[in-house]
Amino acid sequence: MSWSFLNWSLDLIRYGKTKSLKRANWLRLFDVPKRWFWHFYIVSVCWNGFLLFVNLNLIYHRQSYPSWLIAILDVLSGVPRPDSQVPQLSTALVQLLVWLHSLRRLLECLFVSIFSDGVMHVVQYLFGLGYYITLGLTVLCVDRIGKGTASLSQVDWLQVTGFVLFICASLLQHQSIVLLAGLRTGKSGAVETFAHRMPKGGCFQLVSCPHYFAELLIYVSLGFVFGGLSLTWWLVVLYVFFNQALAGQLSHELYVSKYQSYPKDRKAFIPFVL
Ligand SMILES: NC(=O)c1ccc[n+]([C@@H]2O[C@H](COP(=O)([O-])OP(=O)(O)OC[C@H]3O[C@@H](n4cnc5c(N)ncnc54)[C@H](OP(=O)(O)O)[C@@H]3O)[C@@H](O)[C@H]2O)c1
Repeated sequence: MSWSFLNWSLDLIRYGKTKSLKRANWLRLFDVPKRWFWHFYIVSVCWNGFLLFVNLNLIYHRQSYPSWLIAILDVLSGVPRPDSQVPQLSTALVQLLVWLHSLRRLLECLFVSIFSDGVMHVVQYLFGLGYYITLGLTVLCVDRIGKGTASLSQVDWLQVTGFVLFICASLLQHQSIVLLAGLRTGKSGAVETFAHRMPKGGCFQLVSCPHYFAELLIYVSLGFVFGGLSLTWWLVVLYVFFNQALAGQLSHELYVSKYQSYPKDRKAFIPFVL
């Protein structure tokens, strides 16, 4: 019984290539294709695009949020807010960057990544769908409990740093996703295999999962755009750190066990550190 519970717990943590092929048949009943990752990003593009739209309407046209959204934010943030309060511009900027990030990931899932028959648990799938809905609401909650206002004329060096870091981290993640796709194609660009090969090139020379490291940097960059003072957002960053560190470590262990020639000095997640 406890063994089944352990297997079930591991099944909720692992997905894709780190999910063992030798699994009980009953566990496979909960599998959904990992290639459905794009569902997360289409939900995010639609939902976070909508939240950005209502926020810009409030900032520039003084149009209040829909009452159901105000009710949800009141519950989540515990801070009732007068309808007339204008949101911080940094919030709109973070919303825009979250939207751009989701759009890029959606396009990568649809047109760049080459997915195998890897799977994830249906609970992970539902969690992923809910994650980007909650993330958008969290961004708005940060605004409610934040202090002070920000306008374009008040943009400071921390926000500029955040913006630059966002662009660099996005480029790193895109490059890594392209390199992973390249492991499955031949010189002509045609798909040759769905196997998991040893990654190389770019920041794969330093870490097994530079795209996970880039994800962490993207969330850190948004913390800077928020002005660096939002505890709520740093808790989101902490979640992403543990989530991506775990996924990175599992991938790293898989590579080390699979490839005898795997570079010994290559870290799992953070270059030279972890
Ligand atoms: N913010 C969050 O909470 C969160 C959570 C999860 C993921 N993400 C982000 O989403 C992105 C994708 O994550 P992921 O876990 O799906 O990454 P991943 O497992 O590395 O997969 C990315 C793509 O590369 C393929 N691939 C992976 N390893 C490969 C190898 N050794 N050889 C050939 N192809 C390989 C995968 O195919 P198959 O897997 O189909 O074989 C998939 O198409 C990452 O940038 C990550 O940071 C964010």
